[in-house]
Amino acid sequence: MMPNRSWLSLVLATANFIEVSGFHRFPTSFVSHPSTFAILDASNRRRLSAFIENGNEMNDSSTSTRGNAAGMSSLKDAEAYNDVVSAAVDFTSIYLRNGIVTATRSARDIDSNSRRLFLYNIPLQSSHRYPMYPPIELPTKIKARIPSPSGYKIAVLAEEDVGPTSGGAAKSSDNNNKRHVFEIWTDGGHRLANRVVLPTDEHGSVCTDFAWFGGIGWTPDESALVYSAEVNKPKTKSFFASASSGNTDEILGGWQHVLGVGKGEDWGEKYATTSLLGLFCLNVESGRIGRVENVPGFTTDSREGGYVLGQPIFSPCGTSVVYTGWDAGAGGGMPRRLGAVYCFQRPCKIYSSPVSELLRRLANPIIDDDERIAPSSDAPFACITPIDRLARSPRFSKPVRGLSKLAYLCNTKGFDTHGGCMALHVTDWDMAKGYVIDESRDVLVDVVQMPGERGDEMEVSGIRFPGLFLHQLRDDCFSPDGKYIVTSTEWGPVNKIVSISLVDGAVVPINFDLTRSEGFSDGASQQFICFTDEGGAIVTQSEPNRPTILGQLLPTFLDDTSKYAPSRLIADLSAISSVSFSSFEPDVKDSIGFRYQLINTQPVHGDVKVPIGSILLLPEGAGEEKPPLIVVPHGGPHTCMSTSYVPSYSFLCKHGRYAILHVNFRGSTGFGQAALESLAGSAGTLDVLDVVAATNSVIDAGLIDSGRVGICGGSHGGFLAGHCIGQHPDLFKVAAMRNPCTNLASMVTSTDIPDWCYVESFGSGYYNFSDFRPPSKKEVCVMWDKSPIAHLEHVKAPTLIALGMKDRRVPPSQGIEYYHALRAKQVPTKLLVYDDCDHAIDLVMSEADHWINTKQWFDQYL
Ligand SMILES: *[C@@H]1O[C@H](CO)[C@@H](O)[C@H](O)[C@H]1NC(C)=O
Ligand SMILES: *[C@@H]1O[C@H](CO)[C@@H](O)[C@H](O)[C@H]1NC(C)=O
Repeated sequence: MMPNRSWLSLVLATANFIEVSGFHRFPTSFVSHPSTFAILDASNRRRLSAFIENGNEMNDSSTSTRGNAAGMSSLKDAEAYNDVVSAAVDFTSIYLRNGIVTATRSARDIDSNSRRLFLYNIPLQSSHRYPMYPPIELPTKIKARIPSPSGYKIAVLAEEDVGPTSGGAAKSSDNNNKRHVFEIWTDGGHRLANRVVLPTDEHGSVCTDFAWFGGIGWTPDESALVYSAEVNKPKTKSFFASASSGNTDEILGGWQHVLGVGKGEDWGEKYATTSLLGLFCLNVESGRIGRVENVPGFTTDSREGGYVLGQPIFSPCGTSVVYTGWDAGAGGGMPRRLGAVYCFQRPCKIYSSPVSELLRRLANPIIDDDERIAPSSDAPFACITPIDRLARSPRFSKPVRGLSKLAYLCNTKGFDTHGGCMALHVTDWDMAKGYVIDESRDVLVDVVQMPGERGDEMEVSGIRFPGLFLHQLRDDCFSPDGKYIVTSTEWGPVNKIVSISLVDGAVVPINFDLTRSEGFSDGASQQFICFTDEGGAIVTQSEPNRPTILGQLLPTFLDDTSKYAPSRLIADLSAISSVSFSSFEPDVKDSIGFRYQLINTQPVHGDVKVPIGSILLLPEGAGEEKPPLIVVPHGGPHTCMSTSYVPSYSFLCKHGRYAILHVNFRGSTGFGQAALESLAGSAGTLDVLDVVAATNSVIDAGLIDSGRVGICGGSHGGFLAGHCIGQHPDLFKVAAMRNPCTNLASMVTSTDIPDWCYVESFGSGYYNFSDFRPPSKKEVCVMWDKSPIAHLEHVKAPTLIALGMKDRRVPPSQGIEYYHALRAKQVPTKLLVYDDCDHAIDLVMSEADHWINTKQWFDQYL
């Protein structure tokens, strides 16, 4: 229920598809980023020198008195945490135009408790090992930079503060003093050619959630943009507002607190200000904006039902917009809105709306009389994927002789689990006709139940092809020769780049390693970004002990996939120090200090025998002594922990000297659909047995100290931590939980995803998406039985609980109840309360505080 999304949340112990984390040291002669030099103010210098002088005391903190040493070890922890976090980079966007790779990196800044954005321009032809130009910091008001297809123009979306507005009656509560502005830069981004302030009477906030709902697309002729933005609410006012304020015809007295009218119905966790999204076009020369009205669920003022319309792009002919529409509940087949974030399998379809007439009108700088009275003559919208229960991520190939192909991800079966295997469909798009509904649809890659069932021989980390597990295709996913689609997909615990033949659907993993020219590591996670003009590709690579690097596959990489693809490192980015008392020249790379290995364990229980794919991180230089182990089951449960760099586990392993075992128990994505679905209905049983089996396999291999095993997890991972310390109190000695589900019977009535409680307790098909009712007496009893709270009497493990008080996914009352129960039993426990955090606990300072506390909890008890 909570995978990790690059832009939204970064530290969940769940699927990690942060495309990122790079660092390197500039040669000493090279002037590093200014932030490195701005870091030591006077007071922090004192702290740092005190820290250095007291180094000897710190050395024996574990043996001497805890008092003074504890303070020093906290400083040491803070510094070490800062090192691993500074090394990480989240790329929020990467594109290639005119031979230059432009990457935006989001870096945590603990001092200011915020994330900062840095822009790197890296010439592809450069022979430097490091980027030639130092990064430029982007103001936080910049929300997106979208290059046109040729790279001649860049659309920059900014969110500007405009100070308090007057005329209170019609204000929207979430967006009072902000406005959105599109700036159009031409000449390759050198010239500011136009600035369009988006009028608030046209729409609300532009959706910049590009990982999911959002999208901004250019027409092929680069004259217009399409984007997704919040539809304006009807105007409301208080019963007691003065009669003179505003136009009384439009304003509804006393409706300002009514859900679905003055109060937008939101999409739960992380989407508190998203209610209904519509599509809008902007002509970048005239500056005129118009709403696309020929869309499903279009009404001018209703807040009931409708659709969220997102991921828009133009068709290759530029005459239609193609987009994904999600049923917004209260209409269609879904009476209750369910939380959207981390829930990738929600009902949605792909639609196409002709817009030639709209674009023609917007190109005219003046609204003429004809336009005022005549309705638009654009034809009605069409649903391109009528039989799919979910379909998303439409992508076009470049047109060849008037024909283009449309690829998209879909699933005809369903969405009971929040993550799952997707099929890839490709259909011809007739440029003349505008759209095509292909009745005989070509299923290029179907949903895979069991790994290898398609007969594909090749293995990745000991697992044959498990099907496609991805959220979206990249914009540029068709190879220039039109023969392949290239994408990254979860394949066991590895994020793997694969080529998919458009002729026969054959799926082949692309093997390479940016850190060496020959051979490859089975473990590295890699992401496909885009093709180069010559037919090569831009890619990223990351490993648990190596933050992300940026590289290039050479143009021959698709020719002979039986060999290693020739590759080249483009950039190995420096750490950007986050805290003022950190070491002046952090050198994380030389001291990564741990190795990792992939471990497949055969499950003993359950009908579906697919390996449990775990990742074991082992601290180096432990000598004769075997390290203690922290077992980390991910959240979800239908997500996957991949072999990418995650600062918090680097911190625990390298600095805390704990072995870390990430367990992709049954139910995880990347192991086929059958194994995934086999968990639904057996949560708290089969997933627990898998975690225990994986733990025992590491103990049996003699790799860790079997007397010192702890467990740590968030959300469903917290649910598993609770089960493990209750069902296996002699194996798991210490626990740390983050927003844990502890009692499904009480969670079901307060979470934004009640469907999850039913499906995980009773199995697929149990929740009726076209109906809603509260749980029955019998259901509440079953849910209680499947919860950690049912095993409370056996718990003896000291347990740390961390809560984000704004969590709407797993309400904090879950953790609070569990905390009080442990305290009453006199089990050592501690509650961390983060008032401003939600489910992810991802505000920079809170995240840091939480992980340092977690390490110290294990230091104290394990
Ligand atoms: C810490 O103690 C060890 C062993 O007593 C010693 O070799 C080492 O030099 C000490 N380190 C510091 C920084 O004092
Ligand atoms: C789901 O609910 C709808 C509306 O109440 C009902 O018509 C339908 O039969 C239900 N489906 C199942 C499988 O119970």
